[in-house]
Amino acid sequence: MVQEKSGVWITGASSGIGKAAAEEFARIGCRVFVSARRVTELERLNKSLKKEKLELDIYPCNVASSANVEQTAKKILSTHKIDCLINNAGITSFKLVEENSINEIDDIINTNLFGSIYTIKAVLPKMIEQGGGTIINILSMVTKKVFTNSSAYAASKNGLMAYTNVLREEVRKYKIKVINIIPGATVTPMWPQEVRKESSERMMATDDIARLLVWVFLQKENMISEEIVVRPIEGDL
Ligand SMILES: NC(=O)c1ccc[n+]([C@@H]2O[C@H](COP(=O)([O-])OP(=O)(O)OC[C@H]3O[C@@H](n4cnc5c(N)ncnc54)[C@H](OP(=O)(O)O)[C@@H]3O)[C@@H](O)[C@H]2O)c1
Repeated sequence: MVQEKSGVWITGASSGIGKAAAEEFARIGCRVFVSARRVTELERLNKSLKKEKLELDIYPCNVASSANVEQTAKKILSTHKIDCLINNAGITSFKLVEENSINEIDDIINTNLFGSIYTIKAVLPKMIEQGGGTIINILSMVTKKVFTNSSAYAASKNGLMAYTNVLREEVRKYKIKVINIIPGATVTPMWPQEVRKESSERMMATDDIARLLVWVFLQKENMISEEIVVRPIEGDL
């Protein structure tokens, strides 16, 4: 259990890894601010947690909109502190460069890269003021090796990795931790149904990734796991 109620803002909490993370952080006693575009899914999650006498704070937000992110962060910060930001919202399209439309590419970069930059910019001044904080980015194995059908996704995740590697060095002096989690294939709706049907046994479970996030967050104040690669024991898909 955490001592004082820590505030944790999780983007993309309506599904997959973000949803599992919201549950785990609530279970260890954090105050969890959950964002996504599908409010009904966030409400459904909250309802299911009522059985465990837990409650999440719902803040609908489209991270691809800088104005929306700014408003949302302002709303949360007007009454609470954010000790941890988890940049988890993300999309992909599993298409070749020649098949990807400009709109699809825009959406992927705006959500995965700019969305995370917007949230970081929105919480950073308060984290500096409060003398600490944790920023966790959910990256991907595309930062470690080349996967075809993932060009825009790879650009977004590698861009975020480059951005946050610089940020980490700039904010060490404030005791702000910038942590990059690099997961391999995990069973979530991001993967096409056929893939999940065929390979879910060998893919990782969202609960296990969520527990890893909690473990990283609870590490001692004076140490940081800067980058963690976690993949299925049988390797990538
Ligand atoms: N699954 C894997 O194998 C895997 C591996 C490595 C990394 N990741 C990363 O893990 C993260 C979570 O993905 P997942 O696998 O859990 O997929 P998922 O189940 O499809 O979840 C994606 C989440 O992102 C949210 N989202 C998408 N666009 C958004 C936007 N514009 N604004 C706010 N929220 C948005 C979705 O909510 P709404 O649609 O309700 O907005 C949803 O909650 C992603 O960053 C992904 O790249 C996944």
